[in-house]
Amino acid sequence: MTMKLTLAAAVALASTAAAACDRATLDETARRYITAQSLAQPKYIRALAEETTYIENGKPANISTGILSQALKIDHSRTIHDTTNCGTYTELIVTDPKHYVIGTQTYLDANTTKITKIESLVTDKDDWLFNAQHTLYYALQENWDVIPEAKRNSRQVIQAAADAYLDLFQKGSGSIAVPWADNCRRLEGGLYTAPGDTCNSGVPSGVDLVNRRYLIDESLGVVEVFLNFGGPTGLPDSHEFRIEGGKIRYVHTITVCAEFNCGFGDPPAQLSEDLGW
Ligand SMILES: *[C@@H]1O[C@H](CO)[C@@H](O)[C@H](O)[C@H]1NC(C)=O
Ligand SMILES: *[C@@H]1O[C@H](CO)[C@@H](O)[C@H](O)[C@H]1NC(C)=O
Repeated sequence: MTMKLTLAAAVALASTAAAACDRATLDETARRYITAQSLAQPKYIRALAEETTYIENGKPANISTGILSQALKIDHSRTIHDTTNCGTYTELIVTDPKHYVIGTQTYLDANTTKITKIESLVTDKDDWLFNAQHTLYYALQENWDVIPEAKRNSRQVIQAAADAYLDLFQKGSGSIAVPWADNCRRLEGGLYTAPGDTCNSGVPSGVDLVNRRYLIDESLGVVEVFLNFGGPTGLPDSHEFRIEGGKIRYVHTITVCAEFNCGFGDPPAQLSEDLGW
């Protein structure tokens, strides 16, 4: 009898743990994060674990005095959920009156559903190819909708496409097969691939993209990767990929610079064009 009860209890516990990281929990986590940011109320964030790591732009920070202490009017947000890794990623675009593009990874303990880690990249005027209005303009044109179940790729296929792209930065253009979609578009900071251009353009070589932390949402075909750009102490960076039919359809990048435009001087004129809306 005792044995049976214990077994039943264990099964119940196991199914609770498995259910803990469902989309509903992750969705609530993301919604509360967005509300906390828009109202400058960190207390609205979903329950934190006893020890929660909070990181901003690669450095440990105080959640009460960091970006969450500023009320930001959020023009656009897009979230993905990784039910396997128990994490969620949200891209925020802010253009009025402040200008920010923010990417945030949040991880939950699958057993307690409490938040164990929040890591944000907060980019503004000095960061790589930054122009939040351009980012907003192009992000609004793209379709990152749910992919019909029959057409979804596995986690492995989704991650492999991202890794091929990220490895290219070390090995150089043409060195490895990257599954480009013909209509691939890249939003790098605020800079969009020019009409007729490919995502293969402007890829350097000899640059290590390391310390990759992946969140993968199969239902959206998305993998989002936090990494260090240029070796272990490289710049805090996010590369997010939308994969359709195994191929890279969209790439979004966010890179935190230590100096204006990462020391590359003025960005291309295209970035300061009036888009007309
Ligand atoms: C974080 O900031 C708040 C508000 O200023 C302060 O009360 C708290 O002690 C800080 N926490 C740490 C760990 O420094
Ligand atoms: C969650 O619970 C399971 C079963 O009790 C345990 O093996 C696992 O280590 C726990 N995970 C965490 C992150 O605490």
